Amino acid sequence: MSYSGPRIVTAPPGPKAQKYIEMDHDRLSPSLTRTSPLVALRAEGVYVEDVDGNVFLDFGSGIAVTALGHRHPDVIAAIKKQLDELIFVNSLDYYTLPQIEYADMLFKHIPGNFKKKIFYCNSGSEAVDTAIKLAKAHTRRCYGIGYINGFHGRTIGAISMTTTNVAGRRGFGPMYPIAQFVPYPYCYRCMFGREYPSCGLYCMNYLTDIMFKKIVPPDETAYIIIEPVQGAGGYIVPPVEFMQKLAEITAEKGILLIADEVQSGFGRTGKMFASSHFGIEPDIITCSKAFAHGLPAGAAVSKAEIMDWEPGAHEGTLNGGPVILEAAKMVLTVMERDKIVQRAEETGKYFRSCLLDMQSRNPCIGDVRGLGLMIGVEFIKDTKKTPAKDLRDRLIDDAFNKGLLLLAAGESSIRLAPPLIITREQLDTGLSIIEDCLKQYR
Ligand SMILES: Cc1ncc(COP(=O)(O)O)c(C=O)c1O
Repeated sequence: MSYSGPRIVTAPPGPKAQKYIEMDHDRLSPSLTRTSPLVALRAEGVYVEDVDGNVFLDFGSGIAVTALGHRHPDVIAAIKKQLDELIFVNSLDYYTLPQIEYADMLFKHIPGNFKKKIFYCNSGSEAVDTAIKLAKAHTRRCYGIGYINGFHGRTIGAISMTTTNVAGRRGFGPMYPIAQFVPYPYCYRCMFGREYPSCGLYCMNYLTDIMFKKIVPPDETAYIIIEPVQGAGGYIVPPVEFMQKLAEITAEKGILLIADEVQSGFGRTGKMFASSHFGIEPDIITCSKAFAHGLPAGAAVSKAEIMDWEPGAHEGTLNGGPVILEAAKMVLTVMERDKIVQRAEETGKYFRSCLLDMQSRNPCIGDVRGLGLMIGVEFIKDTKKTPAKDLRDRLIDDAFNKGLLLLAAGESSIRLAPPLIITREQLDTGLSIIEDCLKQYR
């Protein structure tokens, strides 16, 4: 199978898709969001084919997962080879080679020229839970601070640190009681009505002057967790000096800085990890998503001296399976060999400049922001920047009907995170679909 572009043969969802969606709704948990009625059958590169033969161009990579495109042949070969050797021994009780080999490969890319250790798990939420537990175990402090509009996952620990949307929290309270929140520098919609840089990083004062003086003692704070680029919150990039100041404050107060790179990691932002854009070296980094090409994988990587918990403190039966880690090894090998990260940076610049052009023709585009191929486009109704959620949702539906997969983020943004191997021509195809849709709304 080889696709040359998006192709709609039957208005989606076609008859087969409709049948499966009905069956799915009858059987699966209704808690799943389901952005578009795509019933995927097969995929290759930047394309996904549905059960009715429609082919979609993928501008979301299943939320930044298929960085190398769908079903990269080298990763498939690595998985097949490992299937013939060893699928499982539990890594609580025994040792396997891929776990050791992968650690060395990954450590080279994690910011910080210090000795590191890794804990493997199966998802982004688990990586975040691992980081939270590790920070508490190491510091023996109780509080954790997160950022408003931050997303860290759905396990009870991760959702306790997540504040993108009350829908994820409703009914589950009281949350993990250690969590406190401070404002993220979402400069396009500053919570304090100020402007960067004349604000002098006013939002940082909330941490130092309110949180640490009135709410939680810094010496009882184990960690601050932050996405170096907010993902589900809307692909929001903080000022470099904000992240640097945060790293300084946490170091000074003995608080561990956790960079949640579940979405921004593995080349997505044009650097292997987004923390490098800010010149910071977090104490703990969480990763998942693009880790193993869509197989369930996650990890928390920390400075070696932080991972000082005792045997039995934290483990998991299926963690770091050999098939998954052979896939992960090949993901890194291909990324290094094919200079995927540099490519993401260059393609990202092109993509952003096209989107900025599009913004000049479409006043409904309030903001275009991002790093590498992690780009957010925020839609507004008017000059007061009223969020245009309906327009955003309609765009996702209309683009889908024309063969383009888009994902939402924040209140009225789309997150553009195509596979890092996407070509300019493929980007142009997707961009013209978006522009065609926007023309209808003018
Ligand atoms: C930054 C971040 N952290 C954690 C998670 C949770 O990952 P998972 O869905 O694999 O549990 C996500 C998922 O979108 C994420 O974007």
